[in-house]
Amino acid sequence: MPIQSRRAALPALRPTLGRPLSAAFVAGAVAASVVVLPLRPAAGQYDVPYVPTPQPVVDAMLEMAQVGSGDYLIDLGSGDGRIVVTAARKFGTPGMGVDLNPERIAEGNANAERAGVTDKVKFVRQDLFKTDISDATVLTMYLLPQVNLRLRPVVLDTLAPGTRVVSHAFDMGDWTPDETRTVEGKRLYRWVVPAKVSGTWDLRSEGGGARLTLDQTYQRFDGAVRADTGMARLTGGRLEGKDIRFTLAMGDGEARTYTGTVEGDRMSGTVEGGGTWTAERTGG
Ligand SMILES: C[S@@+](CC[C@H](N)C(=O)[O-])C[C@H]1O[C@@H](n2cnc3c(N)ncnc32)[C@H](O)[C@@H]1O
Repeated sequence: MPIQSRRAALPALRPTLGRPLSAAFVAGAVAASVVVLPLRPAAGQYDVPYVPTPQPVVDAMLEMAQVGSGDYLIDLGSGDGRIVVTAARKFGTPGMGVDLNPERIAEGNANAERAGVTDKVKFVRQDLFKTDISDATVLTMYLLPQVNLRLRPVVLDTLAPGTRVVSHAFDMGDWTPDETRTVEGKRLYRWVVPAKVSGTWDLRSEGGGARLTLDQTYQRFDGAVRADTGMARLTGGRLEGKDIRFTLAMGDGEARTYTGTVEGDRMSGTVEGGGTWTAERTGG
């Protein structure tokens, strides 16, 4: 396995929240098992060893992300640039690869040159933790569990709702993926960054109004409802990017599903069975 250096394998032995590492990463870690492990890598060390994603797995990751020419893809820890270059070559997607290792950056540039996509992609030597990812509409990664977990709040707070995040091999802890696939024995995960809906909302529809107090956990939310007509119950609260869905069961037992779109502090959509609804956030 192409390990960059013995130092590069060290982080593979750091605590992994009880999840097994990939066989390739474990093989790298075994070679380093006699050294005392630092909790954090010292300056200049890599957080993840270099293990390239097989091309059919790259293709599957891009399919899961549904990349197109209107997207901007960032691969964090881009290795030889294969994900960024493939997206540009096959789908015309502009993008950026970020890697700390100058050899990987040189390989990325050479691969972009060979594929004729230098006008669409760039490779930047920098720390993925110091990279501004806010322009990404697709974020790809093949990192490590604890690196994913460190990135998770950045992903949720920086990326626009609807941004697709695809990870090879490692999940994001208790943020349940929206899709998983296994391709050539490799586990792949896709999440869609959800809009933020926690807070209080005034909902209006032809059937009357209600005050919603929503409590969001990633792409799911619960809520307390005080409807004009009495108490009601909210179930099935779910977000996919800006798309929202929930069911309100009224005191008389009638339940209606609301679907719509979140735009900042406003949401609107249609009610199952007919009619429209709007809601405005009144408190955070
Ligand atoms: C497992 S490889 C993945 C390569 C590529 N994304 C792929 O899937 O083929 C991880 C890459 O992350 C890079 N890397 C490790 N720590 C990094 C850091 N802190 N910032 C940027 N890149 C880093 C390594 O040099 C390596 O190329």
